[in-house]
Amino acid sequence: MQLFLDTTDVAVLKDLAATGLVDGVTTNPTLIAKSGRPMLEVIAEICDLVEGPVSAEVAATEVGGMLAEGKKLAAIAPNVVVKLPLTRDGLIATAEFAVHGIQTNVTLCFSAAQALLAAKAGATYISPFIGRLDDYGAVGMDLITEIRAIYDNYDFDTEILAASIRNPVHVTQAALAGADCATIPPNVFADLFKHPLTEKGLDQFMKDWAATGQSIL
Ligand code: E4P
Repeated sequence: MQLFLDTTDVAVLKDLAATGLVDGVTTNPTLIAKSGRPMLEVIAEICDLVEGPVSAEVAATEVGGMLAEGKKLAAIAPNVVVKLPLTRDGLIATAEFAVHGIQTNVTLCFSAAQALLAAKAGATYISPFIGRLDDYGAVGMDLITEIRAIYDNYDFDTEILAASIRNPVHVTQAALAGADCATIPPNVFADLFKHPLTEKGLDQFMKDWAATGQSIL
């Protein structure tokens, strides 16, 4: 399973990328706004730091604008993935980008039927929003299971990118449900390393080791 970081914070990205565990990055207009920086500059900087896919989202809502913006974003670096909303126009643009070999991430997916359309349009990634469905009173993870079954039934190549991840349990459940990737906010990514029993066990080992008075080096 590939793990992406959902961030525009370059300092945080540098820190977590040093673990070698960050396979890619996703961004969205809200995260660009939070960065307070020009989008093209932030995306270029992220692409320099990460070899894997970096999703950059269009701001236009009609096909012509999406195509123009997407081409500009794709020209920033070879690892840019053009992110498009799951709308009629978004899927028309997705199909056009597929013809030209430009990678796409279709975002704001909230139903299996939407995911089916995205795959038929030739999306590289589909982003089902787990947390926002949970917030809405649904079981977000069920959507991953449904999309996995549909994509497997018809051998679609579109990768399932579990998005709107809120906690480490979401990551585990997405992996169990067969998501190809998960995009994770930095605080949740940092939490993935942790378990209280790991900390407790290490503390005891260190105390016992110190009592031996030995040194390995
Ligand atoms: C991913 O592509 C989205 O930008 C992100 O996962 C949305 O997460 P949120 O629902 O926490 O804003």
